[in-house]
Amino acid sequence: MEMVKEIEKMAALSQKWHQAGKIIAFVPTMGYFHQGHLSLMGEGKKQGDVLVVSLFVNPIQFGPKEDLAAYPRNLQRDASLAEKEGTDVLFVPEEKEMYPEGYQTYVKVTQLTKYLCGVSRPGHFKGVTTVVAKLFNIIRPHIAIFGLKDYQQYIVIKRMVRDLNYPIKIIGCPIVRETDGLAMSSRNVYLTSEQRPSALSLYKSLNIAQEMVNKGERKAKNIIKAVSTFIQKHPYTKIDYVKLCHPETLEDLEEIKERALLALAVKVGKARLIDNTILGVK
Ligand code: PAJ
Repeated sequence: MEMVKEIEKMAALSQKWHQAGKIIAFVPTMGYFHQGHLSLMGEGKKQGDVLVVSLFVNPIQFGPKEDLAAYPRNLQRDASLAEKEGTDVLFVPEEKEMYPEGYQTYVKVTQLTKYLCGVSRPGHFKGVTTVVAKLFNIIRPHIAIFGLKDYQQYIVIKRMVRDLNYPIKIIGCPIVRETDGLAMSSRNVYLTSEQRPSALSLYKSLNIAQEMVNKGERKAKNIIKAVSTFIQKHPYTKIDYVKLCHPETLEDLEEIKERALLALAVKVGKARLIDNTILGVK
C-alpha cells in the first residue's frame, strides 16, 4: 500500500489507472477505522481493480461547537488496517493543500440538507459535499462507497452526483454493529462504560418500532412517541430528533405505506450518536 499526501501525486496515479483501463473504487473517510469502515473497503476491493481510501478530518464539516479538535486520530493503526483490507493507496491530504488561503468555493445540495441532521448541524452537509466533490475531482473514481449509517449523507451525495453529472456509481453499504447492536462509530470512544447501556437504547428503539409495524401500527406519531419515550427512559440521553420520513425525499411521513426511514440522533453524554433503519410493511 502506498500512502500519498500530495494532491498532484494522487491525481497522477489516477490518470495512470484511467489510461490503463482500471476501475477505481474509492472510500472517503475521516479515519479512526472500525469494522464499518473496513466493510466499505472490502466492498471497494470486490468492485474495483484498484482501491483508494482517503483519510481527512475535514474541518469545514464541523460546526464551531463540535468535536473537530477532539476527533480521534491514529494514522499508524489506520494505515495498517487499510493495508490489511487490500487498499492500494491511502490518500491523506493536508488541510493547507485542500483549503489554501483564499479558498471560497463550496458545493451545496439545497433541499435534502434541510432535514434531519441539517437542522442541528447547519453547514455540515455543505462541508461534506464540498470535500467529497474535491476528492472525486482529484481521484476520479468509477465507484464510491458510503455507509448507510450516515443515511442522509448517502442520499445527499447521490443527489450531488446526479445533479453535477459525476460519472460515478454510488454504493451504500449496510450498517455494521457491535455484537450488542450498537452502530459502530469513531465517536463511540467518547462513551463511558456507564453511558454505554444508554447508547444501546437507539438500536433497541429501532427494533421496537419495527415490531410495532409488524403488529399493524402505521401512524408515524405513535411510533415516534414510543421510540422517544423508550430512549428518554435511559440516563444521559438527550434526543436531537426522532423522525419518520420518506427514504428518498427525506420529507416527514404521517403514515407508513410501504417503506419509511426511521432516523435518530441522540446525544449520550458527550457523544452525538445517529442510527437508522428502513421500516418495512410485510
Ligand atoms: P466517517 O465518519 O469516517 O465515515 C466514513 C464512511 O464510513 C461513511 O460512508 C460512513 O457512513 C461509513 N460508516 C461509518 N460507520 C459505519 C458503520 N457502523 N457501518 C457502515 N458504515 C459506516 O462520513 C464521513 O467520514 C465523512 O463525512 C466523509 C464522507 C469522509 C466526508 O468528510
